[in-house]
Amino acid sequence: MQPKPDFLVPPLLIVGLGPGPDSWITPEVSEALAGVQHVVGYAPYVNRVPQREGLTRHASGNTVEVDRARLALDLAKSGQSVAVVSGGDAGIFGMAAAVFEAAEDEEYAEVPIRVLPGLSAVQVVAARAGAPIGGDFAVMSLSDRLKPWSLIEQRLRAVAGADLVLAIYNPASRSRTTQVADAQAILLEHRSGDTVVVIGRDIGRTEESLTVTTLAELEPDSIDMKCLLLIGASNTRVTATGQVWTPRFTD
Ligand SMILES: C[S@@+](CC[C@H](N)C(=O)[O-])C[C@H]1O[C@@H](n2cnc3c(N)ncnc32)[C@H](O)[C@@H]1O
Repeated sequence: MQPKPDFLVPPLLIVGLGPGPDSWITPEVSEALAGVQHVVGYAPYVNRVPQREGLTRHASGNTVEVDRARLALDLAKSGQSVAVVSGGDAGIFGMAAAVFEAAEDEEYAEVPIRVLPGLSAVQVVAARAGAPIGGDFAVMSLSDRLKPWSLIEQRLRAVAGADLVLAIYNPASRSRTTQVADAQAILLEHRSGDTVVVIGRDIGRTEESLTVTTLAELEPDSIDMKCLLLIGASNTRVTATGQVWTPRFTD
């Protein structure tokens, strides 16, 4: 069967709600959410979209991303307007890649997909700290749910060896309790103990905290799933007032 032209099937929207307050949702995303018939996502994100006439909210658990993506694709395929919601930016360790994964199935070939950009946790933690990602930086997730820990170790060594600032998402969870200490040990093989480390926890929320420490003094037990870590490069520095920045130039 020939794919239907775009104008007959509204695009499946994938949107990020930002990492904190509603003021961090982009106007484009707010407008999109005000116009769709269905919102699909992890329950805490779906619950942030106000109920209104004509809207059906489909909330699901945390680890069923591809099932959730299929539901959204099925709705979109039937001609309904749908937004998949994610925290932060949907394209960064969010639902966008899960939707593309599900959409590899031939049966969804006719569904157009449109990803709307959002604000990500790395940006807000960096902004609170100063300008730590003003130079080159890398982004990793420490979660080994979808990739082996051996690959994470290999990538940590490569980033540490390249002297990039490193943003670490998903550093720990209730079941993953050793990864931060393991990562710290690997990074210390390549980096000085004085390397600046920023810990952003719940940034933008009422429980927000920001800590500036060093790689040697980082306490793995103080890190949980609500934290994002920024490990500085060798030229990342701290001002007299405690703000962190990385020069755009190399010393
Ligand atoms: C599954 S990832 C989602 C990332 C999201 N798509 C983004 O772009 O920010 C969840 C991780 O993001 C980080 N994170 C999300 N919101 C945060 C916040 N407000 N403060 C600090 N870290 C946050 C934490 O590392 C958390 O474990």
